[in-house]
Amino acid sequence: MLTTLKKILKLADRDQYAVGAFNINNLEILQAVIETAVEEKSPVIVQTSEGAVDYAGMDYLFAMVKIAAKSPIPVAFHLDHGKNLEYVRQAIKSGYTSVMYDGSVLPYRENVRNTQKVVRWARIRGVSVEAEIGAISGSEDYVTVSEKQALFTDPIEAKKFWQETGCDALAISIGTAHGPNKFIGEAGLDIPRLRKINDLVKVPLVLHGASSVNQDMVKKTRQSCKIFGDCNRLAKASGVPDKQIHQAIRAGIRKINIDTDLRIAFTAGIREAINSEKNTIDPRQLLAPAKRYMKDTVRSRMRVFGSRGKA
Ligand code: G3H
Ligand code: 13P
Ligand code: ZN
Repeated sequence: MLTTLKKILKLADRDQYAVGAFNINNLEILQAVIETAVEEKSPVIVQTSEGAVDYAGMDYLFAMVKIAAKSPIPVAFHLDHGKNLEYVRQAIKSGYTSVMYDGSVLPYRENVRNTQKVVRWARIRGVSVEAEIGAISGSEDYVTVSEKQALFTDPIEAKKFWQETGCDALAISIGTAHGPNKFIGEAGLDIPRLRKINDLVKVPLVLHGASSVNQDMVKKTRQSCKIFGDCNRLAKASGVPDKQIHQAIRAGIRKINIDTDLRIAFTAGIREAINSEKNTIDPRQLLAPAKRYMKDTVRSRMRVFGSRGKA
């Protein structure tokens, strides 16, 4: 059933697990996420970025999710990284049960002002709001460790921001990055910083850029890199190890965002099908392995997050 982020995360907080928030752009990705959530009896957050909205349309996405949410598990439908206030307003009006307003790169006061505005709009319709303080770098940025640390969330500022905005969940920056190239060298999340933030902020915390970048899946994707051309892009791909995900959950993370893992699984499956099913022109056959790999990915994440059996 469709429910709010606030309700899903309240239970996660009570029982000390995290809920996966999976980015979807089309029917196959949505089905892979929901079917697996049902099989694992796990609550789930389905989210669409502004890019997904541009690609598929808010109405189409909502219509698909409304049907998917008839499943016997709690499903939150969430706008990911809403930076344009118009998208956020539209999402609240269109039936999303939660929205993220991401003003993390704006000056502090402007981020507060815009987040307060979104919270006001959302309250009217019972929609939850995730906000962000501290910026998370992107995969292609290749920032150095010290450049990355400069963007980390300051615990005192996080408390002030949460109190001033009244957001329902807070995304923080503690060392992850979006995309397949998260770390130069060793993976390292700032767990002591996370603990401090969790002591001061009394709403559930969100970890972005948290894909595991499963090396078997990367290998499958790269098997034909000479034909398809990711020989450089994925050569040093690395994600957040499960051990650090466990530490982050113990230190207070309750929502974990996953997109890159699904992208890699989807691409591995598509490449495999194109290479092995040379005689087919049937899109369903070409998409079948992609869906299978995405389901494996979602299942593995739900088990690591501890949300299996919680629905
Ligand atoms: O955090 C960002 C997600 O990976 C969404 O990416 O804007 O290309 O859909 P996208
Ligand atoms: P990944 O790129 O690690 O999957 O992170 C996705 C994300 O944070 C979406 O908001
Ligand atoms: Zn993100």
